[in-house]
Amino acid sequence: MDNFTFYSPTYFVFGKETENETGKYVKRFGGHKALIHYGGGSVKKSGLLDRVKKSLENDGIAYCELGGVKPNPRSGLVYEGIDLCRKEGVDFILAVGGGSTIDSAKAIAAGVPYDGDFWDFYQGKPVDEAVPIGVVLTIAAAGSEGSGDSVITKEEGMFKRSAGGDAMRPKFSILNPALTQTLPPYQTACGITDIMAHLYERYLTNTKDVEVTDRVIEGLLLTMIHEAPRVMADPNNYEARANIMWAGMLAHNNCCGVGRTQDWASHNLEHELSAMYDCAHGAGLAVAMPAVFTYNLNHDVMRFAKAAVRGWGIQMDFDNPERTAKEGIEALRSFLISLGMPKNLEELGGKEEDIEKLAYTACYGDVETGTTGGFVVLNQKDCENVYRLML
Ligand code: NZQ
Ligand code: ZN
Repeated sequence: MDNFTFYSPTYFVFGKETENETGKYVKRFGGHKALIHYGGGSVKKSGLLDRVKKSLENDGIAYCELGGVKPNPRSGLVYEGIDLCRKEGVDFILAVGGGSTIDSAKAIAAGVPYDGDFWDFYQGKPVDEAVPIGVVLTIAAAGSEGSGDSVITKEEGMFKRSAGGDAMRPKFSILNPALTQTLPPYQTACGITDIMAHLYERYLTNTKDVEVTDRVIEGLLLTMIHEAPRVMADPNNYEARANIMWAGMLAHNNCCGVGRTQDWASHNLEHELSAMYDCAHGAGLAVAMPAVFTYNLNHDVMRFAKAAVRGWGIQMDFDNPERTAKEGIEALRSFLISLGMPKNLEELGGKEEDIEKLAYTACYGDVETGTTGGFVVLNQKDCENVYRLML
């Protein structure tokens, strides 16, 4: 196991009607004037926004608001948010929504105390200071409610990049699984796919003897395999929603990624897809993961075979471990398709002629790393090959 530090200071409030306590937690974490940040309107339609406002009013918290965060959130609204917070003297940012809203809130929070352009953080500068953030989560997916990461798309060039720093970890996150019952089935499935991807990205490691994190990941993966069909069959199944919501947090606050190298090639290649085609992140991952895994299979056949056996219950073929490994990837692919996820680039709205550009941007973009992925380091040519496997 590699050396590591682990800091996950978020205060989690989990369960039914917990959003009615939002004001109490803003106050506890030092907020006097909040920016309420939200997306395209689902929180208005469901009445959640009104309940959150009422809770703030009950606790004497002043607020202003900024809605309109789009899925795959954009830089334009972040600049607007930074200006608004400075003008209004905001000392707390409250994200009410999904990963996109939380990530936009984090970008604003990092940008407010910073003299330069907030995009610097998305080109590798760590975030050391940010306005405190709170979350009322409405979709189990990105895990941003417990992570120190934020993913934003810069409108000039459409570069989708991430920033990180413990300062961006939410002070509190309110997780009421019932709030996710209004999700369209497609978005529920996208969220499930993203959670499973966060597990796979960590499972694919070159570090030996990491049994504890392997086993935590496998447990979460088994939970997702059990709960996903239940929630797709009955969107009002609170218990299934609850298990998925907590699994989503555990999959991405990095408790199961510590002490080991991780991959993230599927995510990085997916970010190019959602930047270019504006598809849902989870849908892009459903197409990217099987392609990346198939391409990387021979790097460590036994790791993929282990996922197949322990995650998908596939019988180990000791004479032909590659067969077992491939069956595991196939099991993942057909599972995601059974949830309603796309199976190829075309279904995402992608085109073969874009592949060169996608691969170039994945490796160079506006930060010239030249490669992507930690399990297998993929160069531009490799990325092209992987994108071709998505056709
Ligand atoms: O905008 P509204 O109207 O709220 O609608 C949203 C949006 O259309 C809707 N929705 C959310 N909760 C709902 C609801 N509709 C009805 N009822 C509800 N309860 O769902 C749609 C998707 O929302 P979004 O916030 O985009 O989803 P998600 O949580 O999947 O976030 C995706 C973003 O997170 C990034 C992705 O790249 C993507 O940009 N990620 C962030 C990470 C992080 N910060 O740690 C890690 C992830 O790997 C990921 O990259
Ligand atoms: Zn993700």
